[in-house]
Order: sequence, then structure tokens, then C-alpha cells
Amino acid sequence: MSDFTSGLWAWFIGIATLLSFIAILWLLIWMSRGKPPPPAEQVQTMGHVWDGDLQEYNNPLPRWWLYMFYITVAYGAVYLVLYPGLAMFGGVLGWTEHSQYDAEVQAANDRYRPIYDRFRQVPLAELVNDPEAVKIGERLFSTYCTTCHGSDARGVRGFPNLRDNDWLYGGTAEDIEHTILNGRQGAMPGWEPILGYEGLFQVSEYVQGLSGRAVDSRVAAKGRDIYRQNCAVCHGDEGQGNQQVGAPNLADNIWLHGGSQKRIQETIAGGRNSRMPPHGEFLGEARVHLLAAYVFGLRVDKDIDY
Ligand code: HEC
Ligand code: HEC
Repeated sequence: MSDFTSGLWAWFIGIATLLSFIAILWLLIWMSRGKPPPPAEQVQTMGHVWDGDLQEYNNPLPRWWLYMFYITVAYGAVYLVLYPGLAMFGGVLGWTEHSQYDAEVQAANDRYRPIYDRFRQVPLAELVNDPEAVKIGERLFSTYCTTCHGSDARGVRGFPNLRDNDWLYGGTAEDIEHTILNGRQGAMPGWEPILGYEGLFQVSEYVQGLSGRAVDSRVAAKGRDIYRQNCAVCHGDEGQGNQQVGAPNLADNIWLHGGSQKRIQETIAGGRNSRMPPHGEFLGEARVHLLAAYVFGLRVDKDIDY
């Protein structure tokens, strides 16, 4: 079979299977050659006795039992001819798990394609208000997205919340569709080697102050200079973030990688690298279109105009 990297293993498994098959057949024939059962009074016992008078007789196997065994062996032989039971021989039917899977996928595609194609033509602005489309999007989301974003789409640390109106890459339905189709990559280098421990502490104090936390203002003032020099290019002068590079807003007290002092310092010190995998090729444009409509409808505050 093609999954075996070396033909040697295929032959090893195949021959071992055949040998054990022959051994079972031989054992069966040998057992069934036995004489017919002797009259009850001449039966020998195996010499084992339990509970005083419970003896083990030395009788040959009953016929019906042997015939059943023959039937199972015949079934096995037919199976090995038809299906890939012997690793080096694929079976005359040519069945594989892959071929069955492909056939099932094909059948499902044929069935659902007309439905998807109908939605594919509808502009996103309309699709987001179509309850049927959103329902299908929801089902697709639970199949393909919940592993990372959670079943309620609220995310976990490192995987963004998709309900919070806070967007790394933009929150219009078109931005969301672009994200799902092509994936995104958010990368920030680690700053510890450049800023040293003290610089790191100062800038993290400043960053925490951006979202209104009580911080040591003298330390934060020093951190502000560091921020202006090194961080504002990506995160913006006021920490408002930049959706072109996926740099998060640092002033909204919503944290992708955790908002405790320790986590913030860790992020700045070591950097972060996050990847949203592209789904366009995998799911096809029609499904992504429906997913975008669903995700767009998740935002809590529907009045925000993006
Ligand atoms: C392997 C994990 C993984 C899977 C699966 C995944 N995502 Fe993501 N997604 C991420 C990560 C990580 C990010 C953040 C990327 C970054 O920080 O640059 C992200 C970002 C996003 C964003 C952008 C959020 C923003 O704030 O701009 C959207 C929208 C999104 N994902 C939707 C989806 C949908 C819909 C699916 C299912 C088709 C999905 N994701 C599947 C990991 C995943
Ligand atoms: C090259 C652009 C770039 C520069 C320069 C940069 N960052 Fe970032 N930063 C990012 C990106 C992109 C992310 C998101 C990483 C991800 O998606 O996982 C990020 C994430 C963060 C986070 C985590 C935010 C959260 O929500 O958890 C903090 C804190 C942060 N940066 C602080 C800083 C500080 C302080 C500096 C300057 C010392 C800095 N960044 C410089 C691009 C940058």
C-alpha cells in the first residue's frame, strides 16, 4: 500500500498474515480429523476435578462449532482477496480509505454546491442579514474555527476574541473575509536584547498607563520616550494600533496575550508570533463568504460603523 514508506514492511505484514491464516486452517483440519465421539461410558477425562465431582472430559470439538470456524475462515479468505488486508496486495476491488473518503466528499459537494453557489453571488452587505446564510456560517464555524477561537468565538489567550469589536485586522465584513481567505500573520520581535531589563520595565509601565491603569508616573515618563522611539511605528503614537500590520491597540485594555503586568512584560521582552491559517483554498470561496457573514454578525455592539 502506498502509505508504507518501504515495501519491506508491506511484505513482512502480508506474509505474517498469510502464515497465521495457513496455521489456523491446518489446526482446524487437524482437529476435525478426530474420530467420532466414543460412547459416554468410554470417554476419558483430562484428570481435572472441581467441586468434588465436576470433571473435564476429553471430547473432540463439536461439529457445528468446527463448521462455524470454517465459515469464518472462508469469510476471511474472501475478504483478503477483495479488500487490502494483505499489505502488499491492494485487493481486487481497489478499495482504500482515501477513495471512500473522496467519494463521500464528492457526493457532499454535489449536493451542497448549488446552495453555496447561490449564496456566493450575494454581496456581503446583504448576506449578513440573511438568517439562513448566517445559520450555515455558524455550522461551518463550529466545524472549522472553534478549535482555536472557542465554541463561543470568544477566543483564548493568543487567539483573538471575535465578539469584542476590537479588531487586529479590521472589522468590516470585507476585512473579515480577507482574513479568513488569506490568513494573517502577526509578528513582533522581542525587545529585551535592545532595551535591557530597565528599559523593558519602563516601557511596560507606560504601556499599562495607556489603558488608564495606575502606574508610577516617573517610570512611565521614561517609558514614553522609549515607546515613541521604538514602538510607535507599529502601535501608533497613542497606542491605538495599526491594522495594516496587525499591531494591537494598546490603549483599550483588551489583551491578546494577557493583560497582567507579568504577561505584558513577557510579551514585550520575548516578542510574539501569531498565525491565522489561510482557509480559502481549503474551504473554497463560497464557504468563506458565509463564514465572514456569520463572524461579522457576532460583534456585540452592532451600531459601530466600521
Ligand atoms: C490554528 C488556529 C486557528 C484556526 C483554526 C482559525 N484561526 Fe482565526 N486566528 C487565529 C489566530 C492566532 C489569529 C490572530 C492572528 C494574529 O494575531 O495575527 C486569528 C485571527 C482571526 C481573525 C482576525 C481577528 C481580528 O481581530 O482581526 C478572524 C476574523 C478569524 N481569525 C476568523 C477565523 C475563522 C472564521 C476561522 C475558521 C474558518 C478561523 N479563524 C480559524 C488562529 C486560528
Ligand atoms: C514591527 C511592528 C511592531 C513593533 C515595532 C512593536 N510591536 Fe508590539 N506588536 C506588534 C504586533 C504585530 C503584535 C501582535 C502579535 C500577535 O499577533 O501575536 C504586537 C503585540 C504587542 C503587545 C501585546 C498586545 C496584546 O494585546 O496582548 C504588546 C504589549 C506590545 N506589542 C508592546 C510593544 C512595545 C512596548 C513595543 C516597543 C518596545 C512594540 N510592541 C513594538 C508589532 C510591533
